[in-house]
Amino acid sequence: MHDERKRPLRMALIGGGGAGFIGKVHAVAATLDRQAELVAGALSSDPARALAAASEFGLERAYGSYQELLAAERALPEHERVDFVSIATPNFTHRTIATAALEAGFHVVCDKPMTTTVEDASQLVQTVEQSQRVFALTHNYSGYPLIRQARDMIAGGELGEILALRATYMQGWMHGMQPEAVPARGAWKSDPDKNGRAGSLGDIGTHAFHLLQFVGGQQPASLLCDMHSYSPHHDLDDYGQAVIRFAGGATGSVIYSQVTHGRLNDLSIEIDGTRASLAWRQESPNQLVVRALGQPTQIYERNPNAAYSTAAAKAACRLPGGHPEAFFEAFANVYRDAFADMHRMAEGTPIDARKSLYPSVYDGHEGVRFMHRCLESQQADGAWQAW
Ligand SMILES: NC(=O)c1ccc[n+]([C@@H]2O[C@H](COP(=O)([O-])OP(=O)(O)OC[C@H]3O[C@@H](n4cnc5c(N)ncnc54)[C@H](O)[C@@H]3O)[C@@H](O)[C@H]2O)c1
Repeated sequence: MHDERKRPLRMALIGGGGAGFIGKVHAVAATLDRQAELVAGALSSDPARALAAASEFGLERAYGSYQELLAAERALPEHERVDFVSIATPNFTHRTIATAALEAGFHVVCDKPMTTTVEDASQLVQTVEQSQRVFALTHNYSGYPLIRQARDMIAGGELGEILALRATYMQGWMHGMQPEAVPARGAWKSDPDKNGRAGSLGDIGTHAFHLLQFVGGQQPASLLCDMHSYSPHHDLDDYGQAVIRFAGGATGSVIYSQVTHGRLNDLSIEIDGTRASLAWRQESPNQLVVRALGQPTQIYERNPNAAYSTAAAKAACRLPGGHPEAFFEAFANVYRDAFADMHRMAEGTPIDARKSLYPSVYDGHEGVRFMHRCLESQQADGAWQAW
C-alpha cells in the first residue's frame, strides 16, 4: 500500500511553544508514522521562551528565532540538516517565514490561511515554483478517509451531476471571551495587523471552503458574502455566509460562526447531485451518509477492509474499521502525502503539486482569494464579485 521504507525526514517546527495550540498537533501528526523526526525548532517569537520550550518537544537543536534556525541548519552537512520546516505561527508571519525557508532550500508545511493578502499569496506561489521544493498547507480536514471516499465518489459520477454544495463550520468559543480579557493564547487573532482582515472567515471559513473544493471539485465563478461581528471581543467578523456560483452551474454556500453557543468544532459538508446526495460531519468523521433516489439511507463506515472503500480512502486508514481514527490521523495524512512528494523530489522524479492530495500552494492561493472576495463583497454591501 505504501512505498518501501524511506529514511525518516528531519523536521524543524516554528511556533508551538508555551500555550501555542497547533504546533503541538504538527509535532504529533508529522511523526505519527515514524516517517519523520522532530529535531529542531524555533518555538516562540521570544528567544528565551523559544529555548525554554525546547525540552517539552525533546528537541536536539533549539533556536531563539526562525532566522537563526534557517542559517544554522543551512550550514550543517546535508545528512544532518533538517529536510522540512513546519510553520505553526500567527497568520501574518506565514509568508515571510515560508519564503525564507524555501529560499534556504527547505520544504515547507505551513498552516492556514496561507497569507493575509492575495498579493502575498501570489508571491508565495512564485517562490514555491522557483524553489523546486514541496509546499503543503495543513487544511487537515481533507485528510479524513471518508472525505477522500466522498471525493472519489463524486469524481466517479456516483452522485450524478452536482447541483449544490454546502459547508457549515460552527464554533461558539468566542462568547466565552470578555472584551477586556487577555486570552491565554491567540490574542493576535483579534488584531487585524496580525490576523489579517478576515476574522473567523480566515480562521475557519477557509477550511470549510477548501473542503468543498477538495470534495466537490467545482471551479467558483462568482460569490457574495454577508459578514457580521457579534462578539464584544473584537471588530473582526465572527459570523458570515458566502453564496458561491460555480462555473459548471452548481450553487454553493459556506456558513461559518464562532458565536454559536455550544458548538465545538462542528464542520460539516453536504453535496447534492442529480442521483444522490452525501453528508459528512467532522465530529463523527468515521461515517459518511449517502442518500440515493428511491434507496434507503446508506452509511459508509471508515473501513479499509470494506469492498466499497476506494483506494484513496483505504490508503488514508491506519486502523481496521471500528477503531476510531480522527483529528491527528487526518492531519498526519496531509504530512504523509507531502512526504511522498519530498522523497520523489529527492529521487529526481517530477511532482505535480496541482494534482497532489495534500493541499498545495495553489489551494492556499484559492483560499486567500476566497477570503478577499468575501471581504470585497461585504464592502460592496453584499454585491456579487467575480472570482
Ligand atoms: N489546521 C488547523 O486546524 C489549525 C488550528 C488552529 C490554528 N491554525 C493556524 O495555525 C496558526 C497558529 O495558530 P494557533 O492557534 O496555534 O496560535 P497560538 O497563538 O496558539 O500559537 C502560536 C505560536 O506561534 C509562536 N510564534 C509567534 N510568532 C512566532 C515567530 N515569529 N517565531 C516562532 N514562533 C512564533 C507563539 O509563541 C505560539 O507558540 C495560525 O495561522 C492558525 O490559523 C490551524
